[in-house]
Amino acid sequence: MRDLSKMLAGIEENFAIPTSLMKTIATQFKEAMADGLTGNPSSLKMLPSFIGPPTGREQKRVVAVDFGGTNVRVLLVELTGLGQTRIIKKHCFPLKDKQAHYDYTAASSSGLQLFDFIAEKIAEVAPRKDKVYPLGHTFSFPCRQYGVNEAELISWTKEIKTAGVEGRDVGQLLAEALKRKGVDYVTSQAVINDTTGTLLASAYHDNTTDIAAICGTGHNSCYIESRYSLTGKPMIINMESGNFNKVNQTKYDLCLDQASEKPGAQRLEKMASGQYLGEIVRLIIRSLVQEGYMNGDARALSYPYSLPTEDLSAVLADTTPGLEVIAEITAGRWGLGNLTIDELRVLRMVARVVAVRSARLVASTWAGVLGRIDPELSRRHSIAVDGSLYEKMPGYAGFLTQGMIDFFGTKAEQITIKLSKDGSGIGAAIAAAIVYNEIIERII
Ligand code: BGC
Repeated sequence: MRDLSKMLAGIEENFAIPTSLMKTIATQFKEAMADGLTGNPSSLKMLPSFIGPPTGREQKRVVAVDFGGTNVRVLLVELTGLGQTRIIKKHCFPLKDKQAHYDYTAASSSGLQLFDFIAEKIAEVAPRKDKVYPLGHTFSFPCRQYGVNEAELISWTKEIKTAGVEGRDVGQLLAEALKRKGVDYVTSQAVINDTTGTLLASAYHDNTTDIAAICGTGHNSCYIESRYSLTGKPMIINMESGNFNKVNQTKYDLCLDQASEKPGAQRLEKMASGQYLGEIVRLIIRSLVQEGYMNGDARALSYPYSLPTEDLSAVLADTTPGLEVIAEITAGRWGLGNLTIDELRVLRMVARVVAVRSARLVASTWAGVLGRIDPELSRRHSIAVDGSLYEKMPGYAGFLTQGMIDFFGTKAEQITIKLSKDGSGIGAAIAAAIVYNEIIERII
């Protein structure tokens, strides 16, 4: 067996994001923000959402659609007008189902089919009762917005391939589908990104919220630009930070990127989000086995994306003395056979290194945003986060907090990172209510 400890030290070093590197990344991120905002070439798209922070007084019963990639969620939400929201109904529908023989995320499905499916599900949640429901739509992909209800999909991410949606206005696609399905009593008011939704949901009851992010299957952050150049008013900017490209890739990241649907795109997301963390771990372990550093059968690890993020969470959570949970997963689903306790420890260490890097990269980008909006950290900031990594991966939330403490020292006390559960769906409801109220005010 070759010298495993030396090899592991090398991996740890390649994946480490020390505070000095965090500072460099934050500075580069801040520069990329400024470039994106002024129209200079930048990997950050800095897309205006045409929506500002809520007042907390918005009051209405609205339908929210949350389209994230794996599922579509349809919610009926009551906004109390006192900073509180009540979910009256919530249904979740998978976008692919082998048994039911459909996959609306595949290239063989069309946008028409996808949006017809969503419209049918909306009808199930909001049945006609001589009522008109405003609808807010969270669409978790990079969109160029021309208005709050006009959002043209720039390109799919997260390995989705549905045909005929890129370059199209998704607000219009949904409105047309609602009409086709006879659901025109539901009127689309706003299309927003899930980060924007998360920010709105948190800011509805906490006005210190000025940054929001998704740390889940995908990754992205948005923030409030206090005086947006075109309007002179506060504007939520969807940065599409998953596309940030000033981060050095290891050989494993390069390998993953090359084999992905869109090589070169979404470089940060490919190092930080749940869609990819399991794959990075698979590539590392496979090479450890192939190069003779570890026992096991490398063929078992030859299937791309065969290690789900849930397995990584289980690996990170295992505190049993004999690492029994890890042993069970690796002998079972990973097909690695019986591993020694040292090898099991290696697996846990690799999973940890990959998860910690993800969190510290994300923390560096938030530090970059704070460097733009409040360089002295002179006021309080809440960063609202939704997504499975943040919510469920053991240690992940702590790695983010630690990153902020390493970066800002005692001033990190000004920053609260908090879960905004279901934020993207509730935020869509708030967006719809904001727009609906503005329309009514104009009429009156
Ligand atoms: C998309 C973003 C989205 C993020 C989180 C990324 O792949 O490009 O628009 O906010 O995933 O869902």
